[in-house]
Amino acid sequence: MASSYTICLLPGDGIGTEVTECGRRVLDFLSEQGGPSFDYDVRPAGYDTFLEVGHSLPDESLDAAKLADAVLVGAMDVAQIPPHGGDPLGGLRIGLEVSASVRPSRTIDGIIGPADDIDCVVVREVTEGLYSRDEYMGDDNAAYAVRVVTREASTKTARMAFAQAVARQEIYGRPSRVTAVHKVGVLKLSDGLFLEACADVARDFPEVIYETANVDACAMDMVRNPGHFDVILATNVFGDILSDVAAGLAAGLGLAASACIGDRWAYFEPVHGTAPDIAGKGIANPCATILTVAMMLRHLGEDESADAVENAVYAVLAKGTVRTGDLGGVATSAEMTNAVLTALSTK
Ligand code: IPM
Ligand code: MN
Repeated sequence: MASSYTICLLPGDGIGTEVTECGRRVLDFLSEQGGPSFDYDVRPAGYDTFLEVGHSLPDESLDAAKLADAVLVGAMDVAQIPPHGGDPLGGLRIGLEVSASVRPSRTIDGIIGPADDIDCVVVREVTEGLYSRDEYMGDDNAAYAVRVVTREASTKTARMAFAQAVARQEIYGRPSRVTAVHKVGVLKLSDGLFLEACADVARDFPEVIYETANVDACAMDMVRNPGHFDVILATNVFGDILSDVAAGLAAGLGLAASACIGDRWAYFEPVHGTAPDIAGKGIANPCATILTVAMMLRHLGEDESADAVENAVYAVLAKGTVRTGDLGGVATSAEMTNAVLTALSTK
């Protein structure tokens, strides 16, 4: 008997609502084909929610996320939300106790990106660092942001990175590499602690190559020699930036998926934002969300469906006849999703 899951959907703002709908169509299609079945608990979160109810992540939405088997997030317009409106993504990440965001990027057949040999995953701490929300004014002319690095969060993130490395070792049949990113020459205490935690975890994985890199040098090397990188392990802001660098080198944010995974809960979101310039037009690339859905299926133990969805997206991209604007085509989100469903049914 195929399994059945409750998915909490937090579509959010802008194109978030549009691409979430495409992700849902893929899940429904899998059910129709005799795969796992899904029901949905759609909840409000984001800037529009703040405008409606005065908070961007109502308690009921977070509670629903905790009760679901998995959570699929669209995108949230966090920049517009004032401090008293809450922080929906931070609230989710902290509330769901996620340890890290896992963000794969790789060169894809049929897509010409700046790098033709990138295949890496950025594992990014997402609950602290410079996103500690501890920001204050000294006086009118000085503002302070506290960068928090704890051994606990660093260790959890490092464990996630090494777990990814081990999994990739099995898939690729070659030694994996973890690159821990820092600026310890300046941030001696905070990145000193981060690197100490990473090195402690690394000792448990002697089969994985472990190296450290300054964040600036790492960014340059990713551009000059993308094929060197395998698993990039980073604190919050460095990981935020480097995951976009990796996505840009591969194929752009239209194809960048991510999974925020903790010990008890997990949520899944495309890396891109709300794209106000194209929101409401039905032309956003749904592939980042569909690939995110594949990560969610894998997390639920539905490997066969996950593989099928990924392969369908890659087949459509390789063929190249149906493409959204970000990839040089003219297809709408619905047409792109239809093409993926067609590829799914003919696999
Ligand atoms: C991401 C996004 C978020 C982040 C923003 C929207 C707060 O850029 O998930 O990468 O910086 O974490
Ligand atoms: Mn980002």
